[in-house]
Amino acid sequence: TRAGAYRGTIVHSLELGVVQLILDGLIIVNASGRIAACYDLDNLPDDVTLSAEELVESFEANLTDLRGKLILPGFVDGHAHAPQYAFTGTGMDLPLLQWLEKYTFPCESNFQDVAFARDVYTKAVTRHLRSGTTTCSYFATIHVDACKVLVDVVRRAGQRAYVGKVSMDRNSPDYLIETTEDAMRDAELFAKFVLSTNTEAGAGAGGSGEGIANKMKQLQLKDGAEAGFVPSCTAQLMQKLGDISEAYSLPVQSHLSESPGEIAWVRELHPECDTYMGVYDRYGLLHERSYFAHCVHCTGEERELMSLKGGAVIHCPSSNFMLGSGVANVKRYIRDGCKVGLGTDVAGGYSSSILDCLRQALIASRVCSFGHGLEPGEAACDALTFQEGFHLATQGGAEALGLGHLVGNFTPGKEFDALVVDVRSIKQLDPSGVAQQVPNAAQAGAGGVAAAPETTPEHASAPFHMFPGQGMQEAFEKFLFLGDDRNIAQVYVGGVRVV
Ligand code: GUN
Ligand code: ZN
Repeated sequence: TRAGAYRGTIVHSLELGVVQLILDGLIIVNASGRIAACYDLDNLPDDVTLSAEELVESFEANLTDLRGKLILPGFVDGHAHAPQYAFTGTGMDLPLLQWLEKYTFPCESNFQDVAFARDVYTKAVTRHLRSGTTTCSYFATIHVDACKVLVDVVRRAGQRAYVGKVSMDRNSPDYLIETTEDAMRDAELFAKFVLSTNTEAGAGAGGSGEGIANKMKQLQLKDGAEAGFVPSCTAQLMQKLGDISEAYSLPVQSHLSESPGEIAWVRELHPECDTYMGVYDRYGLLHERSYFAHCVHCTGEERELMSLKGGAVIHCPSSNFMLGSGVANVKRYIRDGCKVGLGTDVAGGYSSSILDCLRQALIASRVCSFGHGLEPGEAACDALTFQEGFHLATQGGAEALGLGHLVGNFTPGKEFDALVVDVRSIKQLDPSGVAQQVPNAAQAGAGGVAAAPETTPEHASAPFHMFPGQGMQEAFEKFLFLGDDRNIAQVYVGGVRVV
């Protein structure tokens, strides 16, 4: 059973800019991994007849006592290339089109080898999950067998994921290209494979043998090519992918308006369309299940079309900075009614962590608030706040992926996808390599308020300094800015512990 009760400090975002912190909270999860209730134990609703103490006691052995720790919704990564994890952290010295040609395509061609694929995919998925990403939208490559390996790896890991087979039938290197016929056939074949093997009680997550939480669907399109996106798919293939997405109700993920060189190329390739966004629209790939990475340079007309059709932006600031693509103004998309989530874009982005992405999103938005890249007559938007960034990393991302009803926060009825964040201690490796818990200064006392720090040698290596009087609100903020996977003590997907 996935049933359980979790007591700790709950922090989640209900809508953009509205973060709720429940100092002493209790989340009750039912046998199918869904949230039955989310209580503030200091302020129980009238229909609960038990006292807080009695309520907690009623769960006995099923209670996980996480007092002093934060319980956050799992992060949503709306855009990551699992194969590119192989070269993450190298090759960050070229603009997009040259970067694809020099690093990305040679790397991705290795995924015709399924053993290589399993090795890299296992590392990639493990790292994303350890970093707190409970829902991830992955691109694979054109290789169907390796795509199936990625599906298997995420199911075994217990991560909630979308896996997209990449389609590339033009403007791609000889060693990484499909015929239009093969691409159309394989896209549908992979979709059918995923849908037919998607079971609620599947292969087991986190070794529990209890079934998976992944709802895997195939996504189409990547665009690859010396440009990767529209440039790497013929109109005929795009139309077929659009038809598949409609026939099977599948989401669509791709890239949009990332770099000036790419945009100019799309214009050249598609004189029949007014805009880059218009190309996806014309071939059936822009609808309420579509989401597009980057959107650095979209025009007002493109934003309007996206908003009208219900598409979403996946903001990938780390990648946009590193590949020199530009500074995307997310506030402008939010203002214009588009859904927005965050993406690491491994390996255009070097980090698999949505925390890193969130920080860079705050910087990108700050730069835009200074007036960078304003359209004629446009007033600068205020910079994204950290509360708004947290929303994009959780509920906003879930909505962008069409999963807002299922995950993103702790609203009853949703699945329990959660992180347990230890803000008081850090796991350190001692010389023998054994993980130890080292006490931190911020030993939360009554009311979640930090006690006066002790001066111990361990204290110097504890992650966050907390002043006396500071509490879980500050610890949450510090985690967003300073935290990393060492603070993420446990990860749950659909009520199953996976880390
Ligand atoms: N455009 C097409 N393919 C890619 C890719 O793999 N990464 C990025 N960042 N942009 C792309
Ligand atoms: Zn990408």
